[in-house]
Amino acid sequence: MKIIVLAALSISFLFSAFSQNPVYIPPTQSGTSFNLDLQTGQTQFLPGDMTNTMGANGSLLGPTLILQKNDNIQIDVTNNLGEPTTLHWHGLHVAPENDGGPHTVINAGDTWSPSFEVLDWAATYWYHPHLHHKTNEHVQKGIAGFILVKDPVEAALDLPRTYGVDDFPLAIQTKAFDANNQIIIESALDVNLMVNGTLDPYLDVPAQVVRLRLLNGSSERSYLFGLSNGVSIHQIASDGGLLAQTNTTNRLWLSPGERAEVLVDLTGMDGQSVDLMSYGSELPSGNYGAAQPGMGAGQTIPDYTLNPLNGNDFVVLSLNVQASTANPVTTIPTTLVNHTIWNEADANTTRNLTFSPVVMGPTAIQGPFLIDGQAFDMMVINQFVPFENVEIWTLTNNSPISHPFHIHDVQFYVLDINGVPPPPHQSGRKDVILVPSGQGVVRFITQFDDFYNDTLPYMYHCHMLTHEDDGMMGQFVVNAPAGVGLEVAGEIGEFMSVYPNPVENYVMVKVEGDFTRVHVVDVSGRVVLCSQLEQFGDTKLDLTGLNQGMYFITVPELDGAVKFVVSSSH
Ligand code: C2O
Ligand code: CU
Ligand code: CU
Repeated sequence: MKIIVLAALSISFLFSAFSQNPVYIPPTQSGTSFNLDLQTGQTQFLPGDMTNTMGANGSLLGPTLILQKNDNIQIDVTNNLGEPTTLHWHGLHVAPENDGGPHTVINAGDTWSPSFEVLDWAATYWYHPHLHHKTNEHVQKGIAGFILVKDPVEAALDLPRTYGVDDFPLAIQTKAFDANNQIIIESALDVNLMVNGTLDPYLDVPAQVVRLRLLNGSSERSYLFGLSNGVSIHQIASDGGLLAQTNTTNRLWLSPGERAEVLVDLTGMDGQSVDLMSYGSELPSGNYGAAQPGMGAGQTIPDYTLNPLNGNDFVVLSLNVQASTANPVTTIPTTLVNHTIWNEADANTTRNLTFSPVVMGPTAIQGPFLIDGQAFDMMVINQFVPFENVEIWTLTNNSPISHPFHIHDVQFYVLDINGVPPPPHQSGRKDVILVPSGQGVVRFITQFDDFYNDTLPYMYHCHMLTHEDDGMMGQFVVNAPAGVGLEVAGEIGEFMSVYPNPVENYVMVKVEGDFTRVHVVDVSGRVVLCSQLEQFGDTKLDLTGLNQGMYFITVPELDGAVKFVVSSSH
């Protein structure tokens, strides 16, 4: 019985290698207000039964959101999945309440409307669900989309940037299907490779310099990208921004969650075809996608060696070169943007995180994996980071498989990997870094600025989504700076109390005495809010219209003020 199933799998793998489909390019949304309608649907992946899938504004994947740096935007996310989920802006630097992590649940039928200023560098980011224990399922079923941030620094460079013409978002994922063409959420037989949800894809590209925005959106697998004709690719951006210098290379390794923007020079190749490959045969042992996922021969995963994608070279996407466009980009820039990296000496804190298997021995490769010996617990804050702290995080992997570590809120710079400064593709702004197997050590440096919230955490976790859902995740809060939160000064303190602390979207004011009005005043003395006091009970002041900054609550008849800080844009 087992043999029949396997034969069927390999036949569909071979069969599909001969059929070619134009790669799907998601539609775009731009401006300052965005709409995502999370929904279920059906997708025809394979001949026969349709596959039950999930998407945003459609049955699979979601639109590409194009954001301009420093715009104030709002995204309305409506959950029509019939079950709870969350939506996370992977790589964006936003306040914890806008981050879409596991605490920010959108219940079935609800709309969640985060609004924030885009503070990120021009780069390729993405969105995906993040409900604890459900992240892998919701991503595997199809919810994922691109976020392209634009900024003036990037705009000043001579780069391809016409979406779908010479600039292409490419999400590389794999799925496993059962006999009824339904997605198997967790399986080592993820033999179906797809780009933007398209199996056996080709892309028509003009005979000039084109830009590919590669996203490894797979749940577990690493890819080692290269071109079949042996010509180099030119990496210009990593996860969180353009590199300082173009990285010209024959191979580019992306682990789950990572992105890279690469330029490919197709000048003069009109009529030819070249394949974007993954050279799985060159991935070292101890990485998912290599011939051996563990470091030693016995350390494997059931069915792993039966998957033809493991340890083999395969085509990811065929590039069919067509006539060039009217004003083609024909050169590859060498110098891109300036980076100012914190000095190690500037770090206020060093944190050490250790990854370990629960079970040692030959099955150690199957997890579950833990960070610092603890499985993720929604109710436990694992790290407390002081606001604006510069920190070095040291990640040590005491397990026989590599893990792509991701942190929310910040972009970081890798200081070293196993004591050696990072190679060019890992030298820029990063939010995911693969920590090598077998006592591999990565150190990175970053700063936790702009946002704090003493109670609502950000996540850090392995971006192999099976590992994340199994608890390889922790959470940190960025604590309010000393002296902010609520501070009461003067006579007003005898008559009035205010909560909660820290202040979030509203404050409750309780006044004892015969007073009628309360004011909120900004630092320049301007009254930004004036409210009647409730005669019985507490008065609720809605602060959602206020910008970030310091404010004072005053009562006209009383001296003194209550000082508070609005920590994020609402
Ligand atoms: Cu891409 Cu915490 O996620
Ligand atoms: Cu993230
Ligand atoms: Cu992992």
